[in-house]
Amino acid sequence: MIRVGVNGYGTVGRRVADAVRKQKDMELVGVTAANPHYKYSIAHQKGIPLYALNLKSLEAFNSSGYTMKGTLNDLLQRIDVIVDGAPDDNGPTNKAAYQLAGVKAIFQGGEDHELTGTSFVAQCNFEEALGKTMLRVVSCNTTGLCRTIGAVDGMIGVARARAVLARRATDPDDVKKGPIDAVVLDPTTIPSHHGPDVQSVLPNIPIVTMAYKVPTTHMHLHSIILSLKKPATKDDVVKALERAPRITLVDGKSGFKSTANIMDWAREMGRDRNDVYEAIVWRDSVTVVDGEAFMFLGVHQEAIVAPENIDAIRALTGGYTREESMKMTDESLGIVHR
Ligand SMILES: NC(=O)c1ccc[n+]([C@@H]2O[C@H](COP(=O)([O-])OP(=O)(O)OC[C@H]3O[C@@H](n4cnc5c(N)ncnc54)[C@H](OP(=O)(O)O)[C@@H]3O)[C@@H](O)[C@H]2O)c1
Repeated sequence: MIRVGVNGYGTVGRRVADAVRKQKDMELVGVTAANPHYKYSIAHQKGIPLYALNLKSLEAFNSSGYTMKGTLNDLLQRIDVIVDGAPDDNGPTNKAAYQLAGVKAIFQGGEDHELTGTSFVAQCNFEEALGKTMLRVVSCNTTGLCRTIGAVDGMIGVARARAVLARRATDPDDVKKGPIDAVVLDPTTIPSHHGPDVQSVLPNIPIVTMAYKVPTTHMHLHSIILSLKKPATKDDVVKALERAPRITLVDGKSGFKSTANIMDWAREMGRDRNDVYEAIVWRDSVTVVDGEAFMFLGVHQEAIVAPENIDAIRALTGGYTREESMKMTDESLGIVHR
């Protein structure tokens, strides 16, 4: 069993912790808790051991009646791999603690590529991460872009990629950043950081991205244009997407007309937390004109990186091929491939 800890039990950390609990080859040794909150009472009810982030947190949880197993330092002594789900930019401080404890570490997309030197999307570069001591699972947007662009590049070849990202303003439980009543250019300059981030996984794809935030909390919607390296039809592009893992194609005529329909689909499927782990491409949006392929891509920001973190754990610890790991992960999470 791979012994796993999660440091930072927020939007991403909670999902990774539950996904770890579903793996036959992993044990969730514990998660850290910074400030008392109902999510930790629920974690305790689920049987997830809680470790305070530091001594100040330990005092706060003890005086609120929680039973803690120790602190982050104790957790680090009991695990093989830590998944860091801390807020953006805590990476450098946390990395030093993980290195001191000698545990392998997985960071998230809010950290810079340079923190670990390896940016990860399972279906694109699992092998690159094999046996390393640390890596970064890229952001939700970059994961969606890499899965789709990588799929088309693998079958047809992509000479150039362009994408316009309509980003959700914030996560559903985050009242500090929303609601907004505007479309916010994010940033006002072009390109946005997403293009270079894609190149940290797919270095040979020339890509320019631009992004803005819209008043919604569920899902990003990308408009993608790919210049193809060789002549191809709409069917060729659809086939390339269909053959790739973790991409689900949906159609407007079946009722999928908005991001809200995707979230409704996840609810109807009985997904944990209504999570959509797949990159969603509207099949009817796929169009080829003058050697360029156009498509709409939906990304459920809260969930898409959960399976990537599970494969990242196996890549760091070794013993599985990409196909074996992704199959185990997908089966455990009920990921749909169609
Ligand atoms: N949200 C998304 O859509 C999304 C998608 C993909 C990737 N990411 C990336 O994933 C990472 C985590 O984002 P998130 O949205 O999950 O954050 P989040 O919801 O704000 O959760 C952060 C968690 O970290 C805890 N924490 C606070 N300070 C900490 C520290 N110094 N060390 C460890 N944990 C600490 C917080 O504890 P308390 O709650 O107890 O205060 C909270 O549980 C970021 O790099 C982000 O860019 C986010």
